[in-house]
Amino acid sequence: MADGAFGMTKALERETAGVWAKVKDHVTPLEWPAQAALISEINALKRERNAVILAHNYMTPDIFHGVGDYVGDSLGLAKEAARSDARVIVQAGVHFMAETSKILNPDKTVLIPDPLAGCSLATSVTGADVRLIKARYPGLPVVTYVNTTADVKAETDICCTSANAVQVVEWAAKEWGVDRVILIPDEFLARNVAAQTSVGIIAWKGRCEVHERFTAADIAEMRAAWPEAEILAHPECPEEVLSAADFAGSTAAMSDYVEQRRPRQVVMITECSMASNVAADAPGTQFIGPCNMCPHMKRITLLNIRDCLRHMQFEVTVPEDVAERGRLAVQRMIDLPPPTIPARYDLVRARHHVAVELI
Ligand code: 13P
Ligand code: SF4
Repeated sequence: MADGAFGMTKALERETAGVWAKVKDHVTPLEWPAQAALISEINALKRERNAVILAHNYMTPDIFHGVGDYVGDSLGLAKEAARSDARVIVQAGVHFMAETSKILNPDKTVLIPDPLAGCSLATSVTGADVRLIKARYPGLPVVTYVNTTADVKAETDICCTSANAVQVVEWAAKEWGVDRVILIPDEFLARNVAAQTSVGIIAWKGRCEVHERFTAADIAEMRAAWPEAEILAHPECPEEVLSAADFAGSTAAMSDYVEQRRPRQVVMITECSMASNVAADAPGTQFIGPCNMCPHMKRITLLNIRDCLRHMQFEVTVPEDVAERGRLAVQRMIDLPPPTIPARYDLVRARHHVAVELI
């Protein structure tokens, strides 16, 4: 590109060449100069503000490869938030993730580029609901998915993510000396966990609006059209989808699957940016649809990340009494040993159907 073409200087081109190599299949040459300028500005603002950007796997490739200091799944982001020594944390993700970072870092400034970036699971249950559930099932531990508000975490015994839910449920049953646990709010995650453990599960009817839309018919269509493709699905998908897939795992587990197994063709039954981000480092793999877009994750853009660092907006706060109770639940999860990703990715084939009790 000539100096000045589309506003791109040679210096900016050199500075962002590594990012361009990763995003060029998803960004047009016409868009790139504006994005490259924002990436450069954001990286300078991070240094100035002593800030770190924690970016979820569902961020668009320009954010994921351009400005994320740490990229990963919900478990990885929570662990990184606990570890970070930056003064400011920018959560490139949704609101519950920023609250989790604040709970773990009461003395740091936690910013979210768009405070309206929510989550259908987080809004499906309130702290008052959890108090009623506890009254109905006294003595049973409450395990909640991190996709919940701080108020819900404050009523929780231990949090989990899709990466460690089976491990956390089994830990809680053993610690409490019981054979059933409450696992809320994702009904499908609960059913998926129930299929892999002998611990009884009491579940809530929350759903991820992105993953609930996938059907077994989608998988059958994929199998017919692409018989060689390996099909990976997120545990927030309906049971019929997970049973028909080759592997079920968190966003990080799906990414590891591709990195380690290097399939020739792969289908990722999850949010659309996931495949785009993983594809940049998997040149020998062909990524095939379908995917669904998360409207909440897509609220986060390079432009609002730049504005968030420029104006130090929008700060996420959690009342200290709520944070203190929620911290115990999140910290218990973080303190467990890392979940093991199976050496052979055949979990789904070993699944069995188990009824869960729906509240
Ligand atoms: P992961 O924990 O697998 O990254 O999932 C978070 C999420 O919001 C999935 O919809
Ligand atoms: Fe929530 Fe689903 Fe979006 Fe994840 S993908 S943030 S669970 S709505």
